[in-house]
Amino acid sequence: MTGSNGRQTRGLFRWFQREPQPVASADDPEQRQLKAQVEALRISHAAAREQMLRLDEVKSDFITIASHELRTPLAQIRGCTDVLDALYEADALDGEELGAMIVNIRKASERMEELIAAMLDVSQLDVDAMDLHFTPITLESAMRLAIEPLTEAMRQRKIGLSARGLKGLPGVNADMQRLVQALRNVLVNAVKYTPDGGKIDISAVEQAHEGNPDEAKIHITIADTGVGIQPEHLELIFHKFFRGHDPSLHSTGSYKFMGAGPGLGLTIAKGVIEGHGGEIWAESSGYDAQAFPGSAFHILLPLHPPAQKNRIDLKTQTAG
Ligand SMILES: Nc1ncnc2c1ncn2[C@@H]1O[C@H](COP(=O)(O)OP(=O)(O)OP(=O)(O)O)[C@@H](O)[C@H]1O
Ligand SMILES: [Mg+2]
Repeated sequence: MTGSNGRQTRGLFRWFQREPQPVASADDPEQRQLKAQVEALRISHAAAREQMLRLDEVKSDFITIASHELRTPLAQIRGCTDVLDALYEADALDGEELGAMIVNIRKASERMEELIAAMLDVSQLDVDAMDLHFTPITLESAMRLAIEPLTEAMRQRKIGLSARGLKGLPGVNADMQRLVQALRNVLVNAVKYTPDGGKIDISAVEQAHEGNPDEAKIHITIADTGVGIQPEHLELIFHKFFRGHDPSLHSTGSYKFMGAGPGLGLTIAKGVIEGHGGEIWAESSGYDAQAFPGSAFHILLPLHPPAQKNRIDLKTQTAG
Protein backbone atom coordinates (compact mmCIF):
# COMPACT_ATOMS: atom_id res chain seq x y z
CA MET A 1 0.00 0.00 0.00
CA THR A 2 1.26 3.48 -0.97
CA GLY A 3 0.26 6.63 0.99
CA SER A 4 -0.40 10.14 -0.35
CA ASN A 5 3.24 10.93 0.13
CA GLY A 6 4.00 7.87 -1.86
CA ARG A 7 5.59 5.99 1.06
CA GLN A 8 4.75 2.48 2.06
CA THR A 9 2.24 2.59 5.03
CA ARG A 10 1.45 -1.13 5.39
CA GLY A 11 4.02 -1.59 8.19
CA LEU A 12 2.72 1.42 10.17
CA PHE A 13 -0.90 0.30 9.75
CA ARG A 14 0.06 -3.14 11.03
CA TRP A 15 1.83 -1.57 13.99
CA PHE A 16 -1.36 0.27 15.06
CA GLN A 17 -3.48 -2.80 14.54
CA ARG A 18 -1.39 -4.97 16.80
CA GLU A 19 -3.05 -6.12 20.00
CA PRO A 20 -1.09 -5.01 23.10
CA GLN A 21 0.84 -8.06 24.22
CA PRO A 22 0.97 -8.88 27.95
CA VAL A 23 4.47 -8.93 29.40
CA ALA A 24 3.86 -12.59 30.27
CA SER A 25 0.93 -14.76 29.27
CA ALA A 26 -2.08 -15.09 31.65
CA ASP A 27 -1.40 -18.71 32.23
CA ASP A 28 2.21 -18.16 33.14
CA PRO A 29 2.44 -20.10 36.46
CA GLU A 30 4.70 -17.48 38.03
CA GLN A 31 2.29 -14.72 37.10
CA ARG A 32 -0.63 -16.70 38.43
CA GLN A 33 1.15 -17.34 41.71
CA LEU A 34 1.96 -13.66 42.09
CA LYS A 35 -1.64 -12.73 41.41
CA ALA A 36 -2.83 -15.25 43.99
CA GLN A 37 -0.37 -13.87 46.55
CA VAL A 38 -1.56 -10.30 45.94
CA GLU A 39 -5.18 -11.44 46.30
CA ALA A 40 -4.39 -13.34 49.52
CA LEU A 41 -2.64 -10.25 50.91
CA ARG A 42 -5.58 -8.08 49.95
CA ILE A 43 -8.01 -10.45 51.70
CA SER A 44 -5.90 -10.73 54.86
CA HIS A 45 -5.45 -6.96 54.94
CA ALA A 46 -9.22 -6.49 54.68
CA ALA A 47 -9.79 -9.10 57.42
CA ALA A 48 -7.20 -7.45 59.68
CA ARG A 49 -8.83 -4.07 59.12
CA GLU A 50 -12.27 -5.46 59.92
CA GLN A 51 -10.89 -7.17 63.03
CA MET A 52 -9.27 -3.90 64.11
CA LEU A 53 -12.51 -2.00 63.65
CA ARG A 54 -14.36 -4.68 65.62
CA LEU A 55 -11.77 -4.59 68.42
CA ASP A 56 -12.05 -0.82 68.46
CA GLU A 57 -15.82 -1.11 68.77
CA VAL A 58 -15.51 -3.69 71.55
CA LYS A 59 -12.97 -1.52 73.33
CA SER A 60 -15.23 1.50 73.27
CA ASP A 61 -18.22 -0.68 74.30
CA PHE A 62 -16.08 -2.01 77.12
CA ILE A 63 -15.16 1.45 78.33
CA THR A 64 -18.72 2.80 78.05
CA ILE A 65 -20.39 -0.17 79.70
CA ALA A 66 -17.69 -0.74 82.31
CA SER A 67 -17.71 2.86 83.45
CA HIS A 68 -21.51 3.02 83.41
CA GLU A 69 -21.89 -0.22 85.39
CA LEU A 70 -19.18 0.71 87.88
CA ARG A 71 -20.52 4.18 88.39
CA THR A 72 -23.77 2.99 90.06
CA PRO A 73 -22.19 1.14 93.01
CA LEU A 74 -19.49 3.78 93.23
CA ALA A 75 -22.15 6.50 93.57
CA GLN A 76 -23.81 4.44 96.32
CA ILE A 77 -20.55 4.19 98.26
CA ARG A 78 -19.92 7.89 97.77
CA GLY A 79 -23.47 8.74 98.91
CA CYS A 80 -23.13 6.63 102.06
CA THR A 81 -19.78 8.15 103.02
CA ASP A 82 -21.20 11.66 102.51
CA VAL A 83 -24.15 10.86 104.80
CA LEU A 84 -21.86 9.27 107.39
CA ASP A 85 -19.62 12.30 107.24
CA ALA A 86 -22.51 14.73 107.71
CA LEU A 87 -23.95 12.71 110.62
CA TYR A 88 -20.55 12.45 112.23
CA GLU A 89 -19.98 16.21 111.90
CA ALA A 90 -23.40 16.89 113.49
CA ASP A 91 -22.61 14.36 116.22
CA ALA A 92 -25.84 12.59 115.23
CA LEU A 93 -24.54 9.16 114.28
CA ASP A 94 -26.45 6.34 115.96
CA GLY A 95 -25.62 2.65 115.85
CA GLU A 96 -28.59 1.67 113.69
CA GLU A 97 -27.81 4.22 111.02
CA LEU A 98 -24.18 3.26 111.04
CA GLY A 99 -25.13 -0.42 110.62
CA ALA A 100 -27.39 0.35 107.64
CA MET A 101 -24.70 2.43 105.94
CA ILE A 102 -22.13 -0.30 106.41
CA VAL A 103 -24.50 -2.85 104.82
CA ASN A 104 -25.02 -0.55 101.82
CA ILE A 105 -21.31 0.11 101.39
CA ARG A 106 -20.55 -3.60 101.61
CA LYS A 107 -23.24 -4.48 99.02
CA ALA A 108 -22.03 -1.81 96.60
CA SER A 109 -18.39 -2.80 96.94
CA GLU A 110 -19.31 -6.48 96.43
CA ARG A 111 -21.14 -5.47 93.25
CA MET A 112 -18.03 -3.63 92.06
CA GLU A 113 -15.89 -6.67 92.83
CA GLU A 114 -18.28 -8.90 90.88
CA LEU A 115 -18.19 -6.59 87.86
CA ILE A 116 -14.41 -6.36 87.87
CA ALA A 117 -14.09 -10.15 88.28
CA ALA A 118 -16.45 -10.70 85.30
CA MET A 119 -14.43 -8.28 83.17
CA LEU A 120 -11.19 -10.03 84.10
CA ASP A 121 -12.72 -13.45 83.31
CA VAL A 122 -13.82 -12.25 79.90
CA SER A 123 -10.42 -10.77 79.10
CA GLN A 124 -8.83 -14.10 80.12
CA LEU A 125 -11.19 -15.92 77.77
CA ASP A 126 -10.35 -13.43 75.02
CA VAL A 127 -6.72 -14.41 75.07
CA ASP A 128 -7.49 -18.07 75.75
CA ALA A 129 -5.78 -17.86 79.13
CA MET A 130 -8.40 -19.27 81.50
CA ASP A 131 -6.84 -22.25 83.28
CA LEU A 132 -9.24 -25.01 84.28
CA HIS A 133 -8.43 -27.31 87.18
CA PHE A 134 -10.13 -30.65 86.59
CA THR A 135 -11.21 -32.98 89.39
CA PRO A 136 -13.87 -35.70 89.55
CA ILE A 137 -17.13 -34.12 90.73
CA THR A 138 -20.87 -34.72 90.49
CA LEU A 139 -23.20 -32.44 88.58
CA GLU A 140 -25.65 -32.60 91.45
CA SER A 141 -23.18 -30.95 93.85
CA ALA A 142 -22.18 -28.32 91.26
CA MET A 143 -25.85 -27.51 90.65
CA ARG A 144 -26.57 -27.28 94.37
CA LEU A 145 -23.72 -24.77 94.83
CA ALA A 146 -24.90 -22.81 91.80
CA ILE A 147 -28.46 -22.53 93.11
CA GLU A 148 -27.64 -21.77 96.73
CA PRO A 149 -27.11 -17.99 96.54
CA LEU A 150 -30.31 -17.60 94.49
CA THR A 151 -32.75 -19.39 96.79
CA GLU A 152 -33.55 -16.34 98.92
CA ALA A 153 -34.27 -14.17 95.85
CA MET A 154 -36.46 -16.94 94.35
CA ARG A 155 -38.37 -17.26 97.59
CA GLN A 156 -38.97 -13.50 97.75
CA ARG A 157 -40.03 -13.36 94.12
CA LYS A 158 -42.14 -16.54 94.39
CA ILE A 159 -40.26 -18.26 91.57
CA GLY A 160 -40.67 -22.04 91.73
CA LEU A 161 -37.71 -24.32 91.06
CA SER A 162 -37.79 -27.98 90.08
CA ALA A 163 -34.89 -30.29 89.31
CA ARG A 164 -35.03 -33.72 87.68
CA GLY A 165 -32.45 -36.33 86.82
CA LEU A 166 -29.52 -34.94 88.81
CA LYS A 167 -29.31 -37.88 91.18
CA GLY A 168 -27.68 -41.04 89.89
CA LEU A 169 -25.76 -39.40 87.04
CA PRO A 170 -22.21 -40.62 86.50
CA GLY A 171 -19.38 -38.43 87.85
CA VAL A 172 -17.87 -35.75 85.64
CA ASN A 173 -14.33 -34.44 85.31
CA ALA A 174 -14.66 -30.71 85.67
CA ASP A 175 -13.35 -27.52 87.22
CA MET A 176 -15.87 -27.32 90.06
CA GLN A 177 -15.55 -23.58 90.68
CA ARG A 178 -15.82 -22.62 87.01
CA LEU A 179 -18.64 -25.06 86.31
CA VAL A 180 -20.60 -23.67 89.27
CA GLN A 181 -19.98 -20.15 87.90
CA ALA A 182 -21.24 -21.12 84.42
CA LEU A 183 -24.37 -22.84 85.77
CA ARG A 184 -25.01 -19.94 88.13
CA ASN A 185 -24.75 -17.37 85.34
CA VAL A 186 -27.45 -19.23 83.40
CA LEU A 187 -29.60 -19.65 86.53
CA VAL A 188 -29.22 -15.98 87.52
CA ASN A 189 -30.55 -15.05 84.07
CA ALA A 190 -33.48 -17.45 84.47
CA VAL A 191 -34.30 -15.64 87.74
CA LYS A 192 -33.72 -12.13 86.35
CA TYR A 193 -35.71 -12.54 83.15
CA THR A 194 -38.65 -14.39 84.73
CA PRO A 195 -41.40 -12.36 86.39
CA ASP A 196 -42.45 -12.94 89.99
CA GLY A 197 -44.49 -16.12 90.35
CA GLY A 198 -42.73 -17.85 87.40
CA LYS A 199 -41.02 -21.23 87.21
CA ILE A 200 -37.54 -22.59 86.52
CA ASP A 201 -37.05 -26.24 85.56
CA ILE A 202 -33.68 -27.94 85.62
CA SER A 203 -33.25 -31.36 84.06
CA ALA A 204 -30.27 -33.54 83.26
CA VAL A 205 -29.91 -36.80 81.32
CA GLU A 206 -26.92 -38.88 80.39
CA GLN A 207 -26.31 -39.05 76.68
CA ALA A 208 -24.46 -42.32 76.15
CA HIS A 209 -22.14 -42.68 73.17
CA GLU A 210 -22.53 -45.86 71.14
CA GLY A 211 -19.30 -47.78 71.17
CA ASN A 212 -17.24 -45.35 73.25
CA PRO A 213 -18.29 -44.81 76.87
CA ASP A 214 -15.55 -42.15 77.22
CA GLU A 215 -17.47 -39.93 74.82
CA ALA A 216 -20.62 -39.88 76.96
CA LYS A 217 -22.10 -36.50 77.85
CA ILE A 218 -24.64 -35.01 80.20
CA HIS A 219 -27.39 -32.93 78.62
CA ILE A 220 -28.51 -30.23 81.06
CA THR A 221 -31.56 -28.07 80.37
CA ILE A 222 -32.45 -24.95 82.32
CA ALA A 223 -35.87 -23.71 81.23
CA ASP A 224 -37.80 -20.70 82.53
CA THR A 225 -41.17 -19.03 82.07
CA GLY A 226 -39.66 -15.60 81.48
CA VAL A 227 -39.70 -12.88 78.83
CA GLY A 228 -38.04 -15.10 76.20
CA ILE A 229 -35.47 -14.18 73.56
CA GLN A 230 -35.91 -12.91 69.99
CA PRO A 231 -34.79 -15.55 67.46
CA GLU A 232 -32.17 -13.19 65.98
CA HIS A 233 -30.61 -12.76 69.43
CA LEU A 234 -30.26 -16.45 70.28
CA GLU A 235 -26.59 -16.51 69.27
CA LEU A 236 -25.75 -12.86 69.96
CA ILE A 237 -26.57 -13.19 73.66
CA PHE A 238 -23.34 -15.19 74.09
CA HIS A 239 -21.27 -12.25 72.76
CA LYS A 240 -19.67 -10.02 75.33
CA PHE A 241 -21.59 -6.90 76.34
CA PHE A 242 -24.65 -8.00 74.37
CA ARG A 243 -27.90 -7.20 76.14
CA GLY A 244 -31.09 -8.15 74.43
CA HIS A 245 -33.34 -5.62 76.08
CA ASP A 246 -33.35 -1.88 76.56
CA PRO A 247 -30.67 -1.19 79.20
CA SER A 248 -32.69 1.80 80.47
CA LEU A 249 -35.22 -0.74 81.86
CA HIS A 250 -32.56 -1.95 84.27
CA SER A 251 -33.28 -2.10 87.95
CA THR A 252 -30.26 -2.13 90.23
CA GLY A 253 -30.62 -5.41 92.18
CA SER A 254 -28.77 -8.37 90.70
CA TYR A 255 -31.71 -10.81 90.97
CA LYS A 256 -34.57 -8.37 90.42
CA PHE A 257 -36.83 -8.76 87.39
CA MET A 258 -34.86 -7.38 84.38
CA GLY A 259 -32.00 -6.50 86.79
CA ALA A 260 -28.91 -4.67 85.61
CA GLY A 261 -25.84 -6.36 84.18
CA PRO A 262 -23.02 -5.62 81.77
CA GLY A 263 -23.84 -8.51 79.42
CA LEU A 264 -20.95 -10.78 80.37
CA GLY A 265 -22.64 -13.69 82.19
CA LEU A 266 -23.33 -15.85 79.14
CA THR A 267 -19.98 -15.04 77.52
CA ILE A 268 -18.28 -16.46 80.61
CA ALA A 269 -20.66 -19.46 80.76
CA LYS A 270 -19.93 -20.29 77.11
CA GLY A 271 -16.15 -19.91 77.58
CA VAL A 272 -16.19 -22.20 80.62
CA ILE A 273 -18.43 -24.85 79.04
CA GLU A 274 -16.36 -24.87 75.84
CA GLY A 275 -13.22 -25.10 78.00
CA HIS A 276 -14.75 -28.37 79.24
CA GLY A 277 -15.18 -29.55 75.64
CA GLY A 278 -18.92 -28.90 75.89
CA GLU A 279 -21.56 -26.83 74.11
CA ILE A 280 -24.16 -24.31 75.21
CA TRP A 281 -27.07 -22.88 73.25
CA ALA A 282 -30.43 -21.21 73.82
CA GLU A 283 -33.94 -21.84 72.53
CA SER A 284 -36.93 -19.54 72.71
CA SER A 285 -39.92 -18.77 70.52
CA GLY A 286 -39.38 -15.02 70.94
CA TYR A 287 -39.36 -12.07 73.32
CA ASP A 288 -42.66 -11.05 74.86
CA ALA A 289 -42.80 -9.20 78.19
CA GLN A 290 -46.58 -9.82 78.42
CA ALA A 291 -47.11 -13.39 77.24
CA PHE A 292 -43.82 -14.74 78.71
CA PRO A 293 -42.96 -17.50 76.23
CA GLY A 294 -39.88 -18.52 78.28
CA SER A 295 -36.42 -19.65 77.27
CA ALA A 296 -34.47 -22.90 77.56
CA PHE A 297 -30.69 -23.08 77.86
CA HIS A 298 -29.05 -26.36 76.88
CA ILE A 299 -25.61 -27.49 77.99
CA LEU A 300 -23.81 -30.59 76.73
CA LEU A 301 -21.09 -31.50 79.18
CA PRO A 302 -18.66 -34.36 78.37
CA LEU A 303 -17.99 -36.76 81.26
CA HIS A 304 -14.33 -36.84 80.27
CA PRO A 305 -13.31 -33.55 78.68
CA PRO A 306 -10.79 -33.92 75.88
CA ALA A 307 -7.22 -32.74 76.53
CA GLN A 308 -7.03 -28.99 75.94
CA LYS A 309 -4.30 -26.41 76.17
CA ASN A 310 -5.40 -24.85 79.45
CA ARG A 311 -6.31 -28.09 81.15
CA ILE A 312 -4.68 -28.70 84.49
CA ASP A 313 -5.51 -32.16 85.77
CA LEU A 314 -5.22 -31.98 89.54
CA LYS A 315 -5.13 -35.77 89.92
CA THR A 316 -2.20 -36.03 87.51
CA GLN A 317 -0.45 -33.09 89.17
CA THR A 318 -0.58 -34.48 92.67
CA ALA A 319 0.45 -37.92 91.41
CA GLY A 320 3.44 -36.35 89.62
N1 LIG B 1 -33.25 -16.71 80.54
C1 LIG B 1 -33.28 -15.63 79.77
N2 LIG B 1 -34.46 -15.12 79.36
C2 LIG B 1 -34.53 -14.02 78.56
N3 LIG B 1 -33.44 -13.34 78.11
C3 LIG B 1 -32.24 -13.81 78.49
C4 LIG B 1 -32.10 -14.97 79.34
N4 LIG B 1 -30.78 -15.18 79.52
C5 LIG B 1 -30.14 -14.20 78.85
N5 LIG B 1 -31.00 -13.37 78.24
C6 LIG B 1 -30.67 -12.20 77.39
O1 LIG B 1 -29.30 -12.33 77.02
C7 LIG B 1 -28.57 -11.13 77.39
C8 LIG B 1 -27.15 -11.52 77.73
O2 LIG B 1 -27.13 -12.28 78.93
P1 LIG B 1 -25.88 -12.17 79.90
O3 LIG B 1 -26.11 -13.06 81.07
O4 LIG B 1 -24.65 -12.38 79.12
O5 LIG B 1 -25.87 -10.63 80.34
P2 LIG B 1 -26.74 -9.85 81.44
O6 LIG B 1 -27.59 -10.80 82.21
O7 LIG B 1 -27.43 -8.72 80.75
O8 LIG B 1 -25.60 -9.23 82.39
P3 LIG B 1 -24.62 -10.03 83.37
O9 LIG B 1 -23.23 -9.70 82.87
O10 LIG B 1 -24.89 -9.48 84.73
O11 LIG B 1 -24.92 -11.48 83.26
C9 LIG B 1 -29.36 -10.53 78.52
O12 LIG B 1 -29.13 -9.16 78.62
C10 LIG B 1 -30.80 -10.87 78.13
O13 LIG B 1 -31.28 -9.92 77.20
MG1 LIG C 1 -26.61 -12.53 83.03
